[in-house]
Amino acid sequence: MASQIREAKASDVDEIVRVTNEAFLADAYFKKEEFHLRTNVGFVEGVIEKNDEHEKFLVCDDPNEGGKLLGSVLVSVHKSIGHFGMVSVTNSARNRGVGGSLIFAAEAFCQGHGATVLEMPVIHSREDLIPWYKKKGYEQFDDVPFEAPEIVLDGVQVRMLMFRKKLE
Ligand SMILES: CC(C)(COP(=O)(O)OP(=O)(O)OC[C@H]1O[C@@H](n2cnc3c(N)ncnc32)[C@H](O)[C@@H]1OP(=O)(O)O)[C@@H](O)C(=O)NCCC(=O)NCCS
Repeated sequence: MASQIREAKASDVDEIVRVTNEAFLADAYFKKEEFHLRTNVGFVEGVIEKNDEHEKFLVCDDPNEGGKLLGSVLVSVHKSIGHFGMVSVTNSARNRGVGGSLIFAAEAFCQGHGATVLEMPVIHSREDLIPWYKKKGYEQFDDVPFEAPEIVLDGVQVRMLMFRKKLE
């Protein structure tokens, strides 16, 4: 699977938007309806066009359908700290190792760009995800308020658990 992961190019924008917005309906349970879409063409295009060697979308090609993606992740490195987010796998390709391969590729990208540690947030109520990350060596080190309270349904409390993994 890892061999099908590569840095995104301009022609991937629509597929990254499709895959990410489909996957992030997983967070719809705590968001106001107008914020159910996680991303848009402008944002994804901006990252790709900037062509910053320290910030990339990595994508996983669908081996059976040219031009289609099975998943994507946004990865970046700031000094010695790597970050990833928007990890997304299209519904029909779940539980086949695509997500794990994207994370493995994000870790390799960060290490290759000088990061010694990777940090990323997980919504506190995503009980499906927390064991998945822990199994991959991520440990919680902080618990912070959700970054965009304005998009959260009234009366719902959301926190972000910060996870970290040493890269070695
Ligand atoms: C979270 C998410 C990225 C996981 O992607 P995925 O491709 O389904 O994940 P994987 O297939 O790598 O792993 C899921 C499980 O599938 C099973 N699996 C992994 N590889 C497999 C394979 N080759 N064959 C069969 N089953 C496999 C394993 O049980 C695995 O769990 P494990 O890694 O703990 O052993 C995906 O569910 C998703 O897009 N969710 C919505 C968006 C989201 O929540 N993103 C994360 C925000 S922080």
